[in-house]
Amino acid sequence: MSTNDHVIGKILFTEAEIRKRAEELGEEISNEFKGEELVVIGTLKGSIPWLCDLMKCLDLDTVIDFVKASSYGSSTTTSGVVKISMDTELNLYNKNVLVVEDIVDTGTTLKYLLEKLNERHPKTLKVCTMLDKPSRRTADFHADYIGFQVEDLFVIGYGLDYDQKYRNLPYISYLQNEGK
Ligand code: PRP
Ligand code: MN
Ligand code: MG
Repeated sequence: MSTNDHVIGKILFTEAEIRKRAEELGEEISNEFKGEELVVIGTLKGSIPWLCDLMKCLDLDTVIDFVKASSYGSSTTTSGVVKISMDTELNLYNKNVLVVEDIVDTGTTLKYLLEKLNERHPKTLKVCTMLDKPSRRTADFHADYIGFQVEDLFVIGYGLDYDQKYRNLPYISYLQNEGK
């Protein structure tokens, strides 16, 4: 498939594979927080499809909200600057909070976001990411629950964008001719 001079590579993870992983992690998270309430915070916009899969697999009293944190402009390289342009109004004090993210790349976004959320003194604060790209990490951050690890490719689809496009692809692929 080719659009606007971008060549889309092979499928890295199919929808079925992603949903199966969401089920596995959903069960693990449900066991860990058994009998307790969980506040799930999705990061707009990338986490939406993964959050939709994961939340249906949580056998817990669950509250959902969103924050919008962006570290990228309209290029394929990080700006290194995190902007929280939409915040949750939920009271996080003494709550079990799970941040749901699509990808941890340099780790800049989540390191900053978790520092901010920690200021509200949640009981627990954990992160479930669909993808982890450890080869690109510059910030000291690791996720608690990881769907899949990926190589240093510019991944797109299932929420992941290039210049706001490709989020709607029902699989994870990569751009063959773009920076990483
Ligand atoms: C992307 C991605 C992660 C973050 C990861 O979001 O969805 O949130 O970058 O990069 P990092 O680990 O290097 O900080 P982006 O800022 O592009 O916003 P989006 O979710 O709206 O696409
Ligand atoms: Mn994002
Ligand atoms: Mg993006």
